[in-house]
Amino acid sequence: MEATEQEPLDVESIRADFPILDREVGDGAPLVYLDNAATTQTPEQVIDVFSEYYRGYNANVHRGIHQLSQEASIAYEEAHDRLAEFIGADGREEVVFTKNTTESINLVAYAWGLNELGEGDAVVLSEMEHHSSFVTWQQIAERTGAEVRYIRVDDDGYLDMDHAAELIDEDAAMVSVVHASNVLGTVTPMRELADLAHDNDALILGDGAQSVPNRPVDVTDLDVDFYVFSGHKMAGPTGIGCLYGKQEVLEDMEPFLYGGDMIRRVTFEETTWNDLPWKYEAGTPLIAQGIGLAAAADYLDDVGMDAIQAHEERLTEYAYERLDEFDDVEIYGPPADDRGAVVAFNVDGIHAHDLASILNDHGVAIRAGDHCTQPLHQKLDIAASVRASFYFYNTMAEVDALVDSLDAARDIFG
Ligand SMILES: Cc1ncc(COP(=O)(O)O)c(C=O)c1O
Repeated sequence: MEATEQEPLDVESIRADFPILDREVGDGAPLVYLDNAATTQTPEQVIDVFSEYYRGYNANVHRGIHQLSQEASIAYEEAHDRLAEFIGADGREEVVFTKNTTESINLVAYAWGLNELGEGDAVVLSEMEHHSSFVTWQQIAERTGAEVRYIRVDDDGYLDMDHAAELIDEDAAMVSVVHASNVLGTVTPMRELADLAHDNDALILGDGAQSVPNRPVDVTDLDVDFYVFSGHKMAGPTGIGCLYGKQEVLEDMEPFLYGGDMIRRVTFEETTWNDLPWKYEAGTPLIAQGIGLAAAADYLDDVGMDAIQAHEERLTEYAYERLDEFDDVEIYGPPADDRGAVVAFNVDGIHAHDLASILNDHGVAIRAGDHCTQPLHQKLDIAASVRASFYFYNTMAEVDALVDSLDAARDIFG
């Protein structure tokens, strides 16, 4: 297959926006960056917005009446509007800036879970949750006496929806499920899960860490109560993530962190809370990062989320099919044409860490380990796997580089 034939995106010009993709690693191998599910690269357009902020109007927000503070406040507040628009939320009230997906889940677990959960309640997760959800809900359940239930993942890597319907019963208080698995690539039926949750008066949290960057997401269509994602996985800066929450749910919840900016009025006797979303953003917030994230949303929309998804599907399908040609390769998860942009696999007789290390010598950056899903790896009965994950700037030639460099590992391990 010709490497860049029939690209739906102008990948070469897109790549020109990402200076890091031109670098070499090791002994001069061109970088083949296939670790996008961990962190994506950042285009010049986002880097420029970041540096314009520090060069031009760096100041604290919501505190000063001087011009710089006003400019920073407006840009920071408008960044919430931009992210609301990007995910189909009703407005800035529904978008809280956090540090990352992990903090967003913890915010819900602490602010809602600690107050609302108790004996007799169930939190329903799936077997393929990331530790950010798995560990958090496990701990909150331990502290509140709630039970944690796990929806089965079947042998093909799909969520067992009959099992989901059994587990999401009248005791269920929270359903917290990943929208696209960071290991199997499985895309879960989030709307169907939301309907099941709501039929049983439970809330639902969608983990969008691997979906918001890669496909159009509309939280209103999904009818989720909470939805969480990270900026560093969607061409944005590190240190910024989002918690989407339905306005009425966020209004009802207690704050997560206390301090400046999240208050309306403080007296010796009591304190009242600020409007949404500031009620959940205590202290000096992630100003530059938030403005940078809005620039990332602009960039992704300019490329086009439909085109991004289509390009990634082609890359993923091609990678899956090429890897599947080898008898010594085992791929985990659903078929090539029905998954997100990740392919996790093992090569017989080669430990995942050795494989990743040899690929690194060839410039190919992939991840090895349990990808923060130890329970899923226990279920798959493997200690570790390697994972190639794609973004819209990757090419078919890079998939070829990945597959061809496996031979180097086979040569070393006989
Ligand atoms: C599905 C999923 N959920 C949550 C996370 C946690 O994201 P972060 O480390 O940005 O908090 C990740 C990160 O890999 C992920 O893939």
